[in-house]
Amino acid sequence: MGTTNNQLRHIALIMDGNGRWAQKKGLPRNAGHQKGAEVVLEIAKAAKEMGVQYLTIYAFSTENWKRSSEEVEGLMNLLRTYLGRNFKELAENDVRIRFIGERQRLDDDIQAQMTRLEQETKNNKSATLLVALSYGARQEIVQAARLLAEKVKSGDILSKDIDEQTFSDMLYTADVPEPDLLIRTSGEQRLSNFLLWQLAYTEFYFTKTLWPDFTKEELKDIINQFQQRERRYGKV
Ligand code: IPE
Ligand code: IPE
Ligand code: MG
Repeated sequence: MGTTNNQLRHIALIMDGNGRWAQKKGLPRNAGHQKGAEVVLEIAKAAKEMGVQYLTIYAFSTENWKRSSEEVEGLMNLLRTYLGRNFKELAENDVRIRFIGERQRLDDDIQAQMTRLEQETKNNKSATLLVALSYGARQEIVQAARLLAEKVKSGDILSKDIDEQTFSDMLYTADVPEPDLLIRTSGEQRLSNFLLWQLAYTEFYFTKTLWPDFTKEELKDIINQFQQRERRYGKV
């Protein structure tokens, strides 16, 4: 097998293992989230430098609302800080920032900060960071089905004209190319309701590294391994 050189436009990232990282150090779980949030900034900058056009990070899932109120509050406060600081640094580096997920479940001040960042960065061109916040893929798919049902009802489209393209146009990621590579840290090998539609032909990579220990060197190494893979898309 020779070396292939796969196109790498979009990386999807499940940043997992913050809690275990903190636990190992005898710290509260939220200390892990704190360190994890710093790593996000570093990795987003590194991905941009490596020429990756889109990075989608799983920051908070629909199911994560079920965690203790102490942990959820800690995460929300961290988010407040990072929306104002780290994301701002990315914004100033020509990175477009977008959020996907059920944003109406977040507090009003957080929603306002998100909208402001999206507005301020909408013309940035070097890279796009998609932050999945209060995100669940099944909810996204159900929401798409509902939107299409309404369009059929109002006569905008005919049900026989619904195809993969019209369906994916209803997803949060409508105008974003599908991820080429998915990385999940912390050793868990599952999707946990992340981008179920979009990952249909994505290459998966699982690493045991806990998210707060993840480095741009490891990212580089994973990308090199990805370049060796043969993507077949059902063909021979
Ligand atoms: C990932 O780390 C961050 C979020 C889900 C918000 P975890 O908090 O899931 O850490 P572990 O999996 O318990 O170690
Ligand atoms: C997935 O991690 C969600 C995020 C990284 C934000 P979880 O830690 O919530 O996933 P499970 O519970 O191990 O499946
Ligand atoms: Mg976890």
